[in-house]
Amino acid sequence: MSPFLLTRTLPEDATDAALRADVLHGLTCTPKSLPPKWFYDARGSALFDEITTLPEYYPTRAEREILLARAPEIAAATGARTLIELGSGSSDKTRHLIDALTSLETYVPVDVSESALRGAANTLLADRPALGVHALIADFTGGLALPGTQGPRLVAFLGGTVGNLLPQERAAFLSSVRAMLSPGDALLLGTDLVKDEAVLVAAYDDAAGVTAAFNKNVLHVINRELGADFQADAFAHVAVWDRDNEWIEMRLRSRVAQTVKVQALDLAVDFERGEELRTEISAKFREEGVRRELAVAGLELTHWWTDARGRFALSLATAA
Ligand code: AVJ
Repeated sequence: MSPFLLTRTLPEDATDAALRADVLHGLTCTPKSLPPKWFYDARGSALFDEITTLPEYYPTRAEREILLARAPEIAAATGARTLIELGSGSSDKTRHLIDALTSLETYVPVDVSESALRGAANTLLADRPALGVHALIADFTGGLALPGTQGPRLVAFLGGTVGNLLPQERAAFLSSVRAMLSPGDALLLGTDLVKDEAVLVAAYDDAAGVTAAFNKNVLHVINRELGADFQADAFAHVAVWDRDNEWIEMRLRSRVAQTVKVQALDLAVDFERGEELRTEISAKFREEGVRRELAVAGLELTHWWTDARGRFALSLATAA
């Protein structure tokens, strides 16, 4: 049995300091916003997994279809011995890739959620006891200290999560990925594609209200971690398509004029009635945009695969 290693690249109090800084900044600037990474405590990760099973939320199924169809081509093109997965979550779809990568020795899942990493590693090691798993609790947006691994490496960033970064964050992120790659290594990137507005909005505002609960979960996280007194019911879930930026925006709209206290920051935050707090952007892409953004980061798009209905894409890129 290979060892299972779990490494926290930042001390627990660094996560806490990052949350404080993000909440202080996000709730005191205009318009108010919070970064989406704070959705994913154990409950938020479970809610996200539930979202991926909803009829309206197509990206996960579309990406799984592509992975199933193309895993052998990805394996042949990369010959990867190490798979590094950024934002691995449950690692559920990644199984198709892991099963196809015949030269794979080590899987390095990277996520901010320790509970998700432990669950994923347990499931994986139950059927693949010989695989080395080195899980990293890390915020990959800040650049990564990777364990020494065998090349060729495949860095996978699936789910369309790159779309949760703002354009300037995305450029910095892709450059930091490029810096992780040696000659012969590759990046596998999942991107949701621009499509009909009604389909997009429904995916982020489902009838069962799971996405609304997921969105409001960030308030529960701040209440618990920073002693705040957000009342989730005092906010409404909002999902809108921004056609100029080509992204979905999730917001929490204050139903009333209210003041929220954040004890750990010694902060009182006023919300006007109807005021919106942006909690996530989820950018949607086109092939030419992906090719251009990769090129700017020094990466060359070598393969572009979509699902049969053209809703989602997987790109394979190498160091240019
Ligand atoms: C984390 C990128 C897969 O933006 O679609 C799902 C997160 N937010 N529903 C996305 C999310 C609302 C999701 N990804």
